[in-house]
Amino acid sequence: MKTIICKNYEEMSARAAEIVADVMKADPACVLGLATGSTPVGMYKKLIDMNKAGEIDFSKVTTVNLDEYYPIAPDNDQSYRYFMNENLFNHVNIDKTKTYVPDGMAADPDEACAAYEALVKKVGPADIQVLGIGQNGHIGFNEPADALEVATHVTGLTESTIKANARFFASESDVPTKALTMGIGTILSAKKIIILANGAAKAEAVKKMLAGKLDTSCPASMLNLHADVTVICDEAAVI
Ligand code: F6R
Repeated sequence: MKTIICKNYEEMSARAAEIVADVMKADPACVLGLATGSTPVGMYKKLIDMNKAGEIDFSKVTTVNLDEYYPIAPDNDQSYRYFMNENLFNHVNIDKTKTYVPDGMAADPDEACAAYEALVKKVGPADIQVLGIGQNGHIGFNEPADALEVATHVTGLTESTIKANARFFASESDVPTKALTMGIGTILSAKKIIILANGAAKAEAVKKMLAGKLDTSCPASMLNLHADVTVICDEAAVI
């Protein structure tokens, strides 16, 4: 894995946006694999600025997001669909019918996961997948476990993730306890992967990811199986 250590969040966001922009310039009809959470917000701001400045064009781009809470309505301001609209899609010239997020309202979530896996195969694979990393080393909502899932699946959130994400909700008890998430195999099917990490709270997870072992207690370590992964982090996330 290639590692880029940046001075701060601002620089990390700019480097990540440049890499995504290069993929978009090389193929205007590319497929972007996207993440939510606080980490990529700065990168999305840079991409919005580049789009407004005419440097990048989203009109032919397709996007596939990693995950969504379950159950949650798309217009709930904590849903990942809402997040993507607010933080990127509403501000760029993208065709929203080509932006995909797992269905947080599906009557049959297992069926919705199978359909999403098929969709990612059909429109994809992603030319680039953007990832954040959980404090416990999760990617998407692939939480530490004895065995990790290959394909898109329904998962329970760990106590640590519920606590970490409670900051976005009115209270911890409002955090949904389940999610639909791409599996490790879905993520690894992307042609190129960038994983962003900032702040000291991520340092242990980053260290474990870079330790050169495939360790299911740190799902991000599975990225070692991919030939084109760039870790972009700030100084605080490195120990
Ligand atoms: C989000 C996602 C998660 C986050 C991770 C880090 O779509 O899949 O894996 O990337 O929980 O979240 P933040 O960036 O909020 O620290």
